[in-house]
Amino acid sequence: MKSVIPIRSFFGILMLLVIIPSLKGQDDSRRDYVPEVGQQGKDVVWVPTPQELVDTMLSIAELTPSDLVIDLGSGDGRTVITAAKRGARAIGIEFNPDMVTLSRRNAEKEGVSSQVQFFEGDLFEYDLSKATVITMFLLPEINLKLRPRLLELKPGTRVVSNTFTMGEWIPDLEVNTPDSWNSWTTALMWIIPAKVEGRWKIGEHELSLTQKYQFINGTFNNGGTITAIADGRLRGNEISFKIGNIIYLGQVNGSRITGTAKSDSAKWDWTAVKSSE
Ligand SMILES: C[S@@+](CC[C@H](N)C(=O)[O-])C[C@H]1O[C@@H](n2cnc3c(N)ncnc32)[C@H](O)[C@@H]1O
Repeated sequence: MKSVIPIRSFFGILMLLVIIPSLKGQDDSRRDYVPEVGQQGKDVVWVPTPQELVDTMLSIAELTPSDLVIDLGSGDGRTVITAAKRGARAIGIEFNPDMVTLSRRNAEKEGVSSQVQFFEGDLFEYDLSKATVITMFLLPEINLKLRPRLLELKPGTRVVSNTFTMGEWIPDLEVNTPDSWNSWTTALMWIIPAKVEGRWKIGEHELSLTQKYQFINGTFNNGGTITAIADGRLRGNEISFKIGNIIYLGQVNGSRITGTAKSDSAKWDWTAVKSSE
């Protein structure tokens, strides 16, 4: 008698009967996945930031709905989800696929799926250029490895780290959450400074600046007297320094700075134009 199902189709159906339950099993195991504190990650193990510190980290970054947050090594997604609940868009980069699945599920439970994205991959390979806030709970040596890339981000981008430092790059702000019973209680924030090192002209006079991260030094030459500048500081594109008793405040815009200067008795506008690196 002729077989109703051709022999090749029969084997095809058999394969599907074997594969579908095993895929379903995989799906179920991902759905039931419960991470363990201290479990291996690619470069850093998973330890969650206490929710109180997540809140502090996002508060000191002064998060607004126009921000795009990228959490490097996003774990169970808590920082990304909290940022989204505050109205921002947020992205998590996480190497562990189970954690990515868990994060997406957590975001769904919290009703913020449309504001978040979780990418499975290596945080060192992801383009960070669109971020306005970077959050991280990694390790000091990983932060150091990331530092050159972070310094190339848009001036004003806030980088907030749970506990771990950036080598000699001093944070602009450090906040502790001392009430927490948890061991992770410190939030550190750096604001990516504009690049201002070089020679500038203020009218006919010359301002010569050197820069180390957010700190600036240099001299002002008015054609006769050379004065060292004092208290030179950058906060993103905002610049401030003193020449004698005159306080200069300004906004850096590429090769131009505009602002106001104030002495004991007067206030006036000033503009500096970059003349050389
Ligand atoms: C200390 S946990 C922090 C998790 C989360 N950001 C938080 O604060 O709760 C570090 C996370 O980074 C992930 N990770 C480690 N190395 C990574 C890499 N190279 N790329 C992406 N994720 C990584 C780990 O799997 C882990 O989930």
